[in-house]
Amino acid sequence: MTADNASEVLAAWETSSQYWNKHQALIEKMFAPLSRALIEEACIDSGQKVLDVGGGSGEPSLTIAPIVGDSGSVTYTDPAAGMVKAARAEAERKRIGNILFHQCPVEQLPFPDGSFDVAVSRLSAMFFPDVVAGLREMLRVVKPGGCVSFLVWAGKEVNPFFSVVTEILDRFVPADPEDEDAPAAFRFAAPGKLAKLLQEAGASSVIQRAFAFTIEAPITVEQFWELRTEMSDTFRKKLARLVPDQVAAIRYTVQKKVASYFKTGGMVFPGQVLIVTGKKPATNPRASR
Ligand SMILES: C[S@@+](CC[C@H](N)C(=O)[O-])C[C@H]1O[C@@H](n2cnc3c(N)ncnc32)[C@H](O)[C@@H]1O
Repeated sequence: MTADNASEVLAAWETSSQYWNKHQALIEKMFAPLSRALIEEACIDSGQKVLDVGGGSGEPSLTIAPIVGDSGSVTYTDPAAGMVKAARAEAERKRIGNILFHQCPVEQLPFPDGSFDVAVSRLSAMFFPDVVAGLREMLRVVKPGGCVSFLVWAGKEVNPFFSVVTEILDRFVPADPEDEDAPAAFRFAAPGKLAKLLQEAGASSVIQRAFAFTIEAPITVEQFWELRTEMSDTFRKKLARLVPDQVAAIRYTVQKKVASYFKTGGMVFPGQVLIVTGKKPATNPRASR
């Protein structure tokens, strides 16, 4: 990936941050099961020093903070200034005092070697420009024997929350041929792909598991349309190229297609992710026993 592409990806996230800020509460609720699964997988516990990479509007940092408590800390990082601002504001609103905020990309973590017990990243590794370099950097800042854990989307076919809108929009504005290694939500959907890169970066004991959950929120079909089309840079750009009648036709088709996922209490979509975890090898193998 070139430096130009990397800055394009970052610029897109910077623009998206206003919408991630707007929908912060909803994002927190919809993906709460993911923070819990990641915390369980990384064995996060009281007193630990945890690094969150690509923390977006605040997760999983905001959920981890009360778990590690005052004897521990969370270090939130994200390269987009708007995301850092949104996450910091939410921590202040919730009166959470044990999160440190840093604006930085994964490839340049401003921390000494071995600073953290654990490093996690929820739904962000897909956007790292040089994935192996990013994973190496995360391993560098974790203590020997420490854990690194990533949560990424599984296939489109098991995630209709995304695929329904994408498929309909693609009929109106055909997508460019897919480069499966380019930064995108489903870059690591193929089982084993991220696990292999984590091994290549130097992690040991790498494991992967699929995690199925439900994306639930008390919203209407109209609110779903607003949420999906605002949060995604690709959707915003594609819709901007269409005339109002075309947008209205897409909106109508999407709302009809997703109707079965909406019940009296709101939205319920099935979803699936992959959780990939590894360890930084202990310098002295005896030390990790
Ligand atoms: C899909 S969002 C996930 C945000 C949050 N972790 C969550 O689960 O709600 C992806 C995040 O990755 C961040 N990101 C993009 N490029 C990155 C990089 N090079 N290093 C670290 N994070 C990056 C974006 O700014 C964005 O906040």
